[in-house]
Amino acid sequence: MNSEQKHQDFTIELQREGWQFYASPHLSVLEAALANGIALPNSCRNGTCRTCMCTLVSGQVAYRITWPGLSQEEKESGLILPCVAVALTDLVLAVTHAKK
Ligand code: FES
Repeated sequence: MNSEQKHQDFTIELQREGWQFYASPHLSVLEAALANGIALPNSCRNGTCRTCMCTLVSGQVAYRITWPGLSQEEKESGLILPCVAVALTDLVLAVTHAKK
């Protein structure tokens, strides 16, 4: 990894575990976790099954698809789908059942 790529990466922290990993803007949050050896719950990986749903404690994400499988109320309460979310800033996530 060169210094330019490093500069563009964001830090993602799992609040409960205290684990941190880096996310390239080219990877979904789920893909970045898996690339760093952290298994987050997942199934469809296309934003429909909601298996990966977790809480965004801080930071901002953008979605790769127009309508990820979350209601407006769920989005406003901080829930995200990491399989189709890309980090726009450093993130802190509250995830259940993360494994290394
Ligand atoms: S893995 Fe199915 S919605 Fe994320």
